[in-house]
Amino acid sequence: MRNYFIAGNWKMNKTPSEAASYARALAAGLGTVKHRLLLAPAFPALPAVASALEGSPILLGAQNMAQAESGAYTGEVSPDMLKDLGVDIVILGHSERRAIFGEKDALVNSKVRLALAKGLEVILCVGETLEEREAGKLEEVIRRNVTEGLKGLVESDLSRVTIAYEPVWAIGTGKTATPEDADEVHAFIRKILAGTYSQNSADAMIIQYGGSVKPGNVRELMAMENIDGALVGGASLKLDDFTAIAHFDN
Ligand code: PGA
Repeated sequence: MRNYFIAGNWKMNKTPSEAASYARALAAGLGTVKHRLLLAPAFPALPAVASALEGSPILLGAQNMAQAESGAYTGEVSPDMLKDLGVDIVILGHSERRAIFGEKDALVNSKVRLALAKGLEVILCVGETLEEREAGKLEEVIRRNVTEGLKGLVESDLSRVTIAYEPVWAIGTGKTATPEDADEVHAFIRKILAGTYSQNSADAMIIQYGGSVKPGNVRELMAMENIDGALVGGASLKLDDFTAIAHFDN
């Protein structure tokens, strides 16, 4: 049985004080949730959110990480720095990192390997652009993102990896993939994992969907066989919406 995993990616939003008051209110008002929950604030808000979440089961996430342990990487943040702040999980290969900052699969892979070696969990984001989908390259892109992103990992590493399927055309646009379309891609990701690793690992992998997830569509997405959670951007900025999404199965 796969456990649902709902993650909020705040992107470059909320100051440390705004982030802390949201996190405190979420932790206080959430009540019982059966599945995993994560908040990923911007780097400067990590310490404040970490202390606001103390004693709550909500996990702390970072939105990115450097590909190196330390050294001359001006403006970057290392895995040890994240761990020192209490970060549990790091989101890697988000489509905005790929599109705006030019991150390629090989770089994403070096970050994935380093994060795991340092004891962090990883959410690896994969997904096609509208242009790629319309050109019939959906499977090619997903296969490349998944196999290159996970390159060099052994099967036992996979228990600390979540995959987020985020069709780029659905991120922040209000357009959501239909639950059926998303489920088909999630099933394809499992097929890749079964071919590379094993059916057991493919069956056990938590695969989140991301792209305009809202309180109004989360339930039908989560009802699909291969969708095990959500990576939520815009709607995670609003406490009421994220709380409703977190309670989708209540
Ligand atoms: P969105 O973002 O929910 O605002 O579409 C999702 C994401 O980028 O992870």
